[in-house]
Amino acid sequence: MIPKNIPCDEDVPKVPDLSNSINKIVVSRGNPFAKLMIIGEAPGAKEEEIGEPFVGRSGKLLDQLLQNAAIDTIQDVYFCNVVKCRPPENRRPTKAEIQENLPWLYQQIKLVNPEIIVLVGATALEAILENTSPISILRGKWINWDGRLVMPIFHPAYLLRNQSKEEGTPMSLTKLDFLKIKEKIDTLK
Ligand code: URA
Repeated sequence: MIPKNIPCDEDVPKVPDLSNSINKIVVSRGNPFAKLMIIGEAPGAKEEEIGEPFVGRSGKLLDQLLQNAAIDTIQDVYFCNVVKCRPPENRRPTKAEIQENLPWLYQQIKLVNPEIIVLVGATALEAILENTSPISILRGKWINWDGRLVMPIFHPAYLLRNQSKEEGTPMSLTKLDFLKIKEKIDTLK
C-alpha cells in the first residue's frame, strides 16, 4: 500500500547522494494518462544521456515485447523507475537509495493513477511489494496492491542474457506475461 502520509512536495527528501554524481534525473516517458505503468530499477547510461527510462538495450527489448503483444508504447504505457538517478557503474541501488526515492515513486503512482502496474525485475518487485520471493516464482501472477493489479516480470537485461525462445524459457514466459497484460488492458477499455 502507498503509505497514508506521503511527504508533500516540500517534505520530499532530495533525490539522494546519487544526484550529486549525475547530470540528469530520469523521471518518465510515455503517457501520463495510461492505465498501465511499467516500473524498472534505475536508469542506465543511455537513459541518463537521453533523460528517459528504458531507452537503452533493455528498453528496446521491452518495447519490442510490448509491441509484439499489440500494446502501444506511446499511448498505452507510462514508464518510470524506482530510483531516478543512475547508480555508479550501473550497480544495483542500495536499500537506502531505494527508500529515499520511494516517496517520488509513490507520488508518480498517485498522479498517474494506473490500474495496472508491471514491476520489471527484482528491485521493483521488492520496493513495491516488500516481497523478497524470487521473481521466478512471482512473475506472471496478478497481485492486488493499493487497489491496483500488479504483475512482476523478468527484467529485460536478464532476457538479453538468456535469449533462447524455447518453450518454458524466461523469454517465452515473458511473452506470455505480456499477452496476459494486453488481455487485462482490453478488459479495462
Ligand atoms: N533498466 C531499468 O530498470 N530501467 C531503465 O530505465 C533502464 C534499464
